[in-house]
Amino acid sequence: MENDIIFQPLKFRNLTVKNRLFRSNISGRFDNYNGSGSQARINWEESFAQGGVGAIISSFVPVKLRGRILPNYAMIDHDDKIPFWRKVGEAVHRHDCKFIMQLSHSGRQRDNPGVENFREKALSSTNNPDTFHGFLCEAMTLKQIKDTVNDFAQGARRAREAGLDGVELHASHGYLITQFLSSAINDRKDEYGGSLRNRAAFLLEIIQAIRKEVGHDYHLQAKLNAVDFGNALYPWEKKGNTLEEGIQVAKWAEEASVDAIHVSIGSIFPHPLLPPGGFPPDELNWWYGTMISSGVRGYLNYTMFHFKFLRPIFTAFWGRTKKDHPVEAVSSEYCKEVKKNVSVPIINTGGYQDARVIRRVITEGYTDAVSMARPLVANRDLPHVLAAGNDLPQSPCSFCNRCLVNAVANPLGCYDVRRFAGDHDAMIAKIMEVYQPAEFADAHTADSRVADYAG
Ligand SMILES: Cc1cc2nc3c(=O)[nH]c(=O)nc-3n(C[C@H](O)[C@H](O)[C@H](O)COP(=O)(O)O)c2cc1C
Ligand code: SF4
Repeated sequence: MENDIIFQPLKFRNLTVKNRLFRSNISGRFDNYNGSGSQARINWEESFAQGGVGAIISSFVPVKLRGRILPNYAMIDHDDKIPFWRKVGEAVHRHDCKFIMQLSHSGRQRDNPGVENFREKALSSTNNPDTFHGFLCEAMTLKQIKDTVNDFAQGARRAREAGLDGVELHASHGYLITQFLSSAINDRKDEYGGSLRNRAAFLLEIIQAIRKEVGHDYHLQAKLNAVDFGNALYPWEKKGNTLEEGIQVAKWAEEASVDAIHVSIGSIFPHPLLPPGGFPPDELNWWYGTMISSGVRGYLNYTMFHFKFLRPIFTAFWGRTKKDHPVEAVSSEYCKEVKKNVSVPIINTGGYQDARVIRRVITEGYTDAVSMARPLVANRDLPHVLAAGNDLPQSPCSFCNRCLVNAVANPLGCYDVRRFAGDHDAMIAKIMEVYQPAEFADAHTADSRVADYAG
């Protein structure tokens, strides 16, 4: 382990992380409806710190109520949220782990507006509804853009006041900042639309505004798409930003003072390539049932998921882009090109679980670190397992994406019953562990005991 690149510290300008394994962002509905935090959230985050990751990059934390994806997400929209996030930071810090908050705004990509947002369309760069999910929206006015830039800056200030180690801008996966960056979505005619420079203005103004609030001695990173790939489901839709454009945006973000770039892909979420792997249409029925009942117009998709005989049509369309991409290290080739063009450290997301793959992408210069979401949902102690010299845990994540499609309606956790030897009750018990009281994280034993269930 001493000589293993995976367990070497990574130095950013304002932050040092003890190893190269980051917990990637994983949203779940753990918190109170009004955006205040819960003990389940603290338990959830602390358990990854205890599992050995060097840093946790939080789930989607809305900087404004109107930019929330789903109710029951802890927000950072007001100073009254600072004490809760301080508690999260303290719990994570107990395990020599850093905590980076993902400052986020959904824009039009809002799975369930909740009662507070029900009567208002979502804000976006455009008036056009999203064609995959059917989310309705309206183009932001210049005043709304200015106010939202300030919302991000205030979110960063609050994160710093809460004693967290840094912030990440969610500028990927089709959320608000991507809706400005992407040529497939942004159809504005003003100074925030048209050329790539204009489309990047919103992101760059947010970075500047954050620096004004928190100074230059605080960690700030951006999660960016190297490539958009457009809607990807429908061949007639625009593809969005190319790799060259993705690289240019990363260079501008670096010039504007970000300390790191978290490289991803895909201008909608989910996308066939992100998170890579399976996409179980049977369980998508639940997700869409929840969305439709909350006023989202995803009727086409819902019809395809609802009727079994139509599901293969969706699967065939969804699978087209996946053919040319492996699940493991899915975006690494694009990430490598971004890395060649910037000098700040790079974190890459998508399909990392196997120590051999992680070691290779770091030593061969694809990235400086990897972030992991689903492999850690399956085995929160994966870093300890790899540090012990294993290439994989005993019962690895299958990348089936059942956790993802359940997350809109059900508690977040691993829903691949095969990992529990078909024992549904054992699977649900594991998912529900996080709702136990504060002692959860201390009492929490290694996740690799899941292997015991699998016999
Ligand atoms: C259930 C779930 C929730 C996610 N939530 C977020 C999120 O809030 N913000 C974000 O940037 N990415 C989110 N992602 C994407 C992950 O952070 C990650 O980039 C992606 O899943 C690929 O990594 P993996 O192969 O290690 O899962 C989510 C993924 C999953 C499966
Ligand atoms: S449900 Fe479990 S096995 Fe499937 S992708 Fe999620 S964490 Fe991995």
